[in-house]
Amino acid sequence: MSALLEARGLRVTFGTTAAVRGTALTVEKGETHCLVGESGCGKSVTALAIMGLLAKGGRREADVLSFAGQDIRNLDEREMSRLRGDRMAMIFQEPMTSLNPAYTVGSQMTEVLRRHRKATRAQAVDRAAELLGRVGITAPGLRLGQYPHQLSGGLRQRVMIAMALMCEPELLIADEPTTALDVTVQAQILRLLAGLQKDLGLGILLITHDLGIVARIADRVSVMYAGEVVESAPTAALFAAPQHPYTRGLLTCVPVPGKVRRDEPLGSIPGVVPRIPPGFTGCAFRDRCGEAHEACAGLIPRQQAAPGHEVLCTLPPGWTARRAA
Ligand SMILES: Nc1ncnc2c1ncn2[C@@H]1O[C@H](COP(=O)(O)OP(=O)(O)O)[C@@H](O)[C@H]1O
Ligand SMILES: [Mg+2]
Repeated sequence: MSALLEARGLRVTFGTTAAVRGTALTVEKGETHCLVGESGCGKSVTALAIMGLLAKGGRREADVLSFAGQDIRNLDEREMSRLRGDRMAMIFQEPMTSLNPAYTVGSQMTEVLRRHRKATRAQAVDRAAELLGRVGITAPGLRLGQYPHQLSGGLRQRVMIAMALMCEPELLIADEPTTALDVTVQAQILRLLAGLQKDLGLGILLITHDLGIVARIADRVSVMYAGEVVESAPTAALFAAPQHPYTRGLLTCVPVPGKVRRDEPLGSIPGVVPRIPPGFTGCAFRDRCGEAHEACAGLIPRQQAAPGHEVLCTLPPGWTARRAA
């Protein structure tokens, strides 16, 4: 059976910036796949490229890009927009990206269902109110009549999440969806997503920098650096035996492997994510890597540390640090 979402060799360039460089990602039905990495690594561009929502000037190429077995590389805008909001939905870090300031919450939420599912107005209103309740919004009837600017940031975020779920999508791509929310609401929304996943077999690609969330809800984790997935593994394996020096750097703040507290931030590594020009060769992390050696300027092998655990690095799987950190 084919994966719900499969991307191989996904590349995005903006002029002379290679923002995504041959990314491979798979999301299975019912799976939560977390994508982590520092700011500027290409996580959002990857998500937007999959959804066909790249900003003007963004050029996408892929060896494979398929959704539920269908090649979506050459769908036109009309065909893509039929998929979006219906079978695949995205929630953004900034809710106003998907909310229109000129329409009430109710009319935006019901429009999605009426367009894709030919629901009656009454059915759509019922469904919208139900979902607002499920994302923890009290007095949904009142909220449906309000405009986005009348809501707090946290409420807007929850409205956007509810809106993405209107048509019961099969794939949900969530780009740091709970960053702005307080811990209680965050937990509520993650529980909601987990519930939907159980009920509907929803596949989730979740972009987050919160290792506590990753440890609790991810089935698989991919670590992105400078436009590439440098390591991908089942969650327990990634925390117990991280292979890439970058992954190990991100996890340095985790005192005991596998034991992650809520709100555990990514570790900070000296230096910044470089801007990579097209045609760059070698490992993009080598300037920041304590283990870098000559081979890191050449072709970087994709190695298998264990079944389902892949790493893009010249070091042998299971390597030990040259010097104590
Ligand atoms: N619209 C755009 N035009 C030009 N460059 C962009 C655009 N969007 C993103 N980029 C560049 O692509 C790279 C990856 O960005 P992004 O995916 O937003 O990172 P992340 O989500 O991991 O923080 C960055 O170098 C960013 O400057
Ligand atoms: Mg981003």
